[in-house]
Amino acid sequence: SGYICKMFRYYESKSITQKYKYRPHYPVKIAEDALGNLKEKKLDFLLDVGCGGGQAVKIFAPYFDKVLAIDPSENQLEEARSQNKFAHVTYEVGLAEKLPCNDVSVDVITVASALHWLDRQKFYEEVDRVLKPGGREIYLQVCNKYAQIYNEIKYAKKLRYDHFTEQVWSITELKGYIQSIDSYETYMKDIEMQLEEFSEKERKAKLLELDSSEQFI
Ligand SMILES: C[S@@+](CC[C@H](N)C(=O)[O-])C[C@H]1O[C@@H](n2cnc3c(N)ncnc32)[C@H](O)[C@@H]1O
Repeated sequence: SGYICKMFRYYESKSITQKYKYRPHYPVKIAEDALGNLKEKKLDFLLDVGCGGGQAVKIFAPYFDKVLAIDPSENQLEEARSQNKFAHVTYEVGLAEKLPCNDVSVDVITVASALHWLDRQKFYEEVDRVLKPGGREIYLQVCNKYAQIYNEIKYAKKLRYDHFTEQVWSITELKGYIQSIDSYETYMKDIEMQLEEFSEKERKAKLLELDSSEQFI
């Protein structure tokens, strides 16, 4: 759909992939808590959907024999592969709405900070197809549409964990984080278009003034 295409293009951009390094890391405890009693079993196969730079794979991969991490963006995958420290992890182009997995083949599916971008109806149908009985879906959301996504999950056996982490950031890191937020690039492009009739110099000054990531310097 147009919506998904727009999303790919946004994450496809090199600048956003580079800014992504400023995103906070997920604490290992999130994986420990979310896997819970599953940690005692032998876990074969993890599928991470919308893996981006592999941020969630880093904390979940150690518990599995095999991990497939998918994302439509080649730039994100390239970044993930360059950071990858696990021999049992594969990064591949793939879509949430058409999972590249056999029926009843996946022990755990993770989606971290990406669920709000998916066609969730289609994705949940795919989850029903690929997940093994007794398998688990783990969804990490950093605030965005958190309550809505939690409420729409149909299972009675669902659990919600809230994690809070403190982060000490330099100004450069804070700026990089703001610039990596989904709406930042769209917002800046919007302003740029509104300033078309201004001279180059005036436009640059105005952009700097309206760029919220510059306000901290
Ligand atoms: C905010 S990033 C999250 C990346 C990473 N999982 C994390 O936790 O930081 C969202 C990711 O979802 C991916 N994405 C967007 N639409 C998708 C789709 N239909 N199927 C799979 N991934 C998708 C984007 O390419 C992007 O890498």
